Amino acid sequence: MARRAPEGFDKVFFTNAGADANENAMRAARLFTGRDKILSSYRCYHGNTGAAISATGDWRRKPNDYSRGHVHFFTPYLYRSEFSATTQEEECERALAHLEHVIQFEGPDTIAAVLLESVPGTAGIIIPPKDYFKGVREITKKYSILMITDEVMAGFGRTGFWFALDDYDYTPDIISFAKGCNSGYVPAGGVIMSDPVAHRFDDIVFPGGLTYSGHPLAMSAIVATQEAMEEEHIVDNAYTIGKDVLGPQLTALYDKHPKIGEVRGKGVFWAVEMVADRTTKEPLDDATMKQIVAEGDKRGLILGVHNNRIHVTPPCVISADEATQGVEILDQVLTAAGC
Ligand SMILES: Cc1ncc(COP(=O)(O)O)c(C=O)c1O
Repeated sequence: MARRAPEGFDKVFFTNAGADANENAMRAARLFTGRDKILSSYRCYHGNTGAAISATGDWRRKPNDYSRGHVHFFTPYLYRSEFSATTQEEECERALAHLEHVIQFEGPDTIAAVLLESVPGTAGIIIPPKDYFKGVREITKKYSILMITDEVMAGFGRTGFWFALDDYDYTPDIISFAKGCNSGYVPAGGVIMSDPVAHRFDDIVFPGGLTYSGHPLAMSAIVATQEAMEEEHIVDNAYTIGKDVLGPQLTALYDKHPKIGEVRGKGVFWAVEMVADRTTKEPLDDATMKQIVAEGDKRGLILGVHNNRIHVTPPCVISADEATQGVEILDQVLTAAGC
């Protein structure tokens, strides 16, 4: 699997991190379309700067919501469907109809872009249905709205693909990235622009700039990291670990532990959603989630817990034995916490 941006994406505006990548992606979309509004999901995180935090859906937006022109909508999440759906197909179809209604009610000619994480990460590693982005692409094209894909967390191998969007059948107009582009060795991020968007700034100056944009240290770390990832087949490793190890082994935990409500993910990007009761899906209480973290600490397993979810996101270089060992410890942790 070779690393690449999609065909027709030749220009990158480099930033210092993910938030300013999204900030500049939204700016480019607004300048390109001459429109103001950005539509994004309630279940997302896009960063901690002015427009990025307003585009964010989760609790961090509320005390920081000072940027104008942001509208939120619901994206697919079958386990807790907003649309009373019972299959991924229904969830996809109804979520798309909902998005189109939001666009129509907001006024298509006021909307610059729809901004979506390719896999909502912090919000719960919610893998979108196969046809969702294709549907969003059709709707955005119909109304001449740009589509921005945020690959900041999911990009560069985490899902077992260079970009998470590679597993879907669509091409956005703009891609934002950061984190995994150089494994975080040196802060870096950026905005990859499709040719039409990039060419808009051939004869007008893009009114944005960052002192450290394209900093040689960050750039050489990107090149070296991606060369190493390619040579060592690290993205393929992440794919295989997801398919052959984490997927089956976490599913086996679901079969064993009644307080696991759902296991979902791909590559090295998995969520174990914990519930008090599988029928009501009531989220597992904070005290038990804290106990899970403490039981992990006791056994040398650092667990990333977000609300009622355990995010299983080991490094892309993890071996099958290491991943298996991690799941075995998680099994003990859940037993010790009475789950
Ligand atoms: C999907 C997504 N977008 C943007 C950001 C913001 O990136 P940064 O913290 O590098 O500014 C994050 C950070 O976690 C993220 O997960």
